[in-house]
Amino acid sequence: MMASRIQYNNPQSSEALGLPYHYEMVSDPRRVGPFKEAILRTCKGKRVLESGAGSAILSILAAKAGAKKVYAVEIDHDIARHARKNIRKSGFENIITLIVADVKSITLADIDHEKIDVVIAENLSTWQVTEPQIQIMNHISQVLAKADFIPLPQRIFNNIELGFAQYTFEGIEIRTHFFEFTGVPKCTIFSEKKLFVEIDLAQKNKTSYTQTIQLLAQKTGVINCVRLTSPLQVFEDVLFDSSDSLMPPVVVPFSSDISVEKGDRVNVMISYRQNTNWDGFSCEARVMPEQK
Ligand SMILES: C[S@@+](CC[C@H](N)C(=O)[O-])C[C@H]1O[C@@H](n2cnc3c(N)ncnc32)[C@H](O)[C@@H]1O
Repeated sequence: MMASRIQYNNPQSSEALGLPYHYEMVSDPRRVGPFKEAILRTCKGKRVLESGAGSAILSILAAKAGAKKVYAVEIDHDIARHARKNIRKSGFENIITLIVADVKSITLADIDHEKIDVVIAENLSTWQVTEPQIQIMNHISQVLAKADFIPLPQRIFNNIELGFAQYTFEGIEIRTHFFEFTGVPKCTIFSEKKLFVEIDLAQKNKTSYTQTIQLLAQKTGVINCVRLTSPLQVFEDVLFDSSDSLMPPVVVPFSSDISVEKGDRVNVMISYRQNTNWDGFSCEARVMPEQK
């Protein structure tokens, strides 16, 4: 199974994602609010599939919104027991079918041989580095969903900025990627925010990148990292930026500090595969010579 947010907090934790992880997510209104609004706007009378149902909260919201049928798919047997209980308590057992499986192994036979209208999938992580959103949506869009299906979220915008992070504390350097959770000092921004890639989840998307992006230094000083964010278009004008429980900004270091002057063009070479881990995320910067 993939690495998860809880495993960053507790590297000793098992692969199973426990209830505290799900409580943290469902009790975060900044994460759940936009999904709830999108579900209310799209699910009435529709056949819905949820990838990674977890506690089943989003599947229950879809049933409450008037979905004709909801398939709630969850890979983790432990959390699926809680999902089953929650579905029973919600009174929507006749609408929601829980399927305990890897959603990538689901076929049309598992969903009564009829394709899906709306897909809810919160298998998200910043730049999709540690979660299987893209692999999952590629399978669903190609195999399980109608040609004009609505994915929730619809689009991901992977953005990048140049930055400077402290890294040195009490004379000790700790140069690592980190999450800008509430309370963690933010890196100082040195460039405009630029779109690295816009991902339309109704389409098939690639799962690895080797790409260079050029950013303009907006002030003179030292840079040593990039700051990565992944805001969402959940549905039409319903947007999500970031929260502690879903896709906080991630700051990734260069191997060394680089001096820049205001107006310098900085090439950042990026190479990574999605649904892996941050140790495999490579990014290095080079100041481009001035063009005469
Ligand atoms: C970020 S949680 C979201 C839970 C719930 N949908 C919510 O929004 O509160 C992602 C869930 O997806 C499940 N998951 C991850 N990969 C999966 C896969 N390939 N097939 C089915 N479920 C998967 C995880 O076990 C986890 O419960």
